[in-house]
Amino acid sequence: METPPNLPPDPFDLEGTAAVVVGAGSAAAGVGIGRACALSLSARGARVGLIDRNRAAAEETLSMVQAAGGEGFAVAADVGAPDTIREAMTACAEALGGVHVVVSNVGIVGPPGDATEVDLDEWTAALHVNVTGMATTARYAIPHLRAAGGGSIVNISSVSGLRGGYPHLSYATTKGALLNMTRAMATQHGPEGIRVNTVAPGEVYTPRVRARGLSEEMRTARRMSVPLRTEGDAWDAAAAVTYLVSPASRWVTGVVLPVDGGLSATLPLRSPAPRSGE
Ligand SMILES: NC(=O)c1ccc[n+]([C@@H]2O[C@H](COP(=O)([O-])OP(=O)(O)OC[C@H]3O[C@@H](n4cnc5c(N)ncnc54)[C@H](O)[C@@H]3O)[C@@H](O)[C@H]2O)c1
Repeated sequence: METPPNLPPDPFDLEGTAAVVVGAGSAAAGVGIGRACALSLSARGARVGLIDRNRAAAEETLSMVQAAGGEGFAVAADVGAPDTIREAMTACAEALGGVHVVVSNVGIVGPPGDATEVDLDEWTAALHVNVTGMATTARYAIPHLRAAGGGSIVNISSVSGLRGGYPHLSYATTKGALLNMTRAMATQHGPEGIRVNTVAPGEVYTPRVRARGLSEEMRTARRMSVPLRTEGDAWDAAAAVTYLVSPASRWVTGVVLPVDGGLSATLPLRSPAPRSGE
């Protein structure tokens, strides 16, 4: 009989991995993308570092991790205040015995409007959180990943950053910037064994979206607007993140993985709605 091949170990196993999630609380009660990432990585065996501007939200995630039998550490920090992120990353490394994985999840919706309408002070503030915040997170995470001999970073963007079509310029611009930031970082840090990838969620139903008060009709319309005709949630984004930080993706870097029910694969079949007055 032929000798069976040696199967590789479970490529999704994160036992022994220290994973830091930045934005690990939840934007509203329930499970948003950051919290889902923390719980999913913990369920695969990772020890999790939970950083959030909202200390209580990070501690709530920690309680959920511990209730499920996982281990973690929560600390408050603001991606807009670099020193707090540096200190929090160091505190996580000390508590977890290093850092191997970083999920950079913080993103704010920012100001509405097109270029002629947007408030420029709010525009600058949104760039500071959504773009500079992810660069700052990487800046203070990478020395720990180097010390660990390599690692993985996942930046959370959005389908709003993949193409035109999102009505508000600020969010579309900041989320778009993360795509090439990811590719540039992947190129710069690949030789050090550090992988950098992006997950671009579509219109997932998260606590933040629920808090906006979507009607059942609106939820059905969202469901029917994607090829898979189903609604996505925070766990879908977290599953993609789990893949991108696990050994299963060890040869994958610099990619943008949409998690959107197929939305970004679809050409619009009708013109944008006319603007008022048109
Ligand atoms: N919710 C969606 O439908 C959706 C769709 C596409 C992309 N995204 C992106 O996914 C990410 C998570 O979105 P979510 O709605 O699931 O949020 P979430 O529930 O994961 O909560 C985000 C967390 O970030 C924290 N935070 C906010 N500003 C911070 C700062 N300056 N420093 C540190 N922590 C801060 C908040 O306290 C909150 O706990 C964002 O980057 C968002 O742009 C969300």
